Amino acid sequence: MATIYAVGVGPGDPELLTRKAERILRSADVILAPASNPAEASVALDIIREFIDEQRQQIIIHKFPMTSDRSLLVPAWQEGAELLAAHAEAGRSIAFITIGDPLFYSTFIYLLRLLREQWPHIPVEIIPGISSINAAASVAAVPLVEGDEKMVVIPATAGTAVIEAALATCETVVLLKVKPRYGAIVELLRKAGKEQQVTFVERVGSVRQKVLTDFEQIAQHTPDYLSLMIIK
Ligand SMILES: C[S@@+](CC[C@H](N)C(=O)[O-])C[C@H]1O[C@@H](n2cnc3c(N)ncnc32)[C@H](O)[C@@H]1O
Repeated sequence: MATIYAVGVGPGDPELLTRKAERILRSADVILAPASNPAEASVALDIIREFIDEQRQQIIIHKFPMTSDRSLLVPAWQEGAELLAAHAEAGRSIAFITIGDPLFYSTFIYLLRLLREQWPHIPVEIIPGISSINAAASVAAVPLVEGDEKMVVIPATAGTAVIEAALATCETVVLLKVKPRYGAIVELLRKAGKEQQVTFVERVGSVRQKVLTDFEQIAQHTPDYLSLMIIK
């Protein structure tokens, strides 16, 4: 029986991988990269390419549909979990790679639940990764929270009412998944008078990294899927 690893590969810069993540990725027999968004899979694989040996290790890109429809997602999660379990039971160590951290808005969370329920005998080890939030705060030099301050993280898909409430109660609001609701978010931030407090970060840690603090530039930008906002 081999181990299933969930490896956080950080937000984009291979130097932000932990030493433990690098060691496990170099030694795993199989690497599984999720492709819920085609851009995400290639980012995760690009980050680790220098650490793996494609001649010796098997690389699998597994598709997860880009939808919130659970009738499509549940079978894809089941298939992913079965794949992980089958390799581990056959004695091949397998590493599921995930952008940022594996337990922070990652597909791995759903697979972990299935593994615990259906294959409780297979050892699972989770290697934390540097989240996009920490990396974005660092490149923009924005202190996230200090003293008694509170921070809330909201996937912008939760809706503008949730964001509005958070802006009124927390010193720091981090918005993930901003792309699908970008126009509405920009309007909300303008109405709330937060123009001077917004930092927009796209593709942090990669050659395509963009950091914007000028609100008009932010408003005119067309964001990538890998974009977030820090309102501080
Ligand atoms: C499904 S969540 C994954 C979060 C990831 N597990 C983490 O720890 O950062 C995807 C969202 O994270 C943010 N994100 C992930 N990688 C990013 C990057 N390199 N630059 C900016 N935002 C990123 C974006 O808001 C994106 O829509």
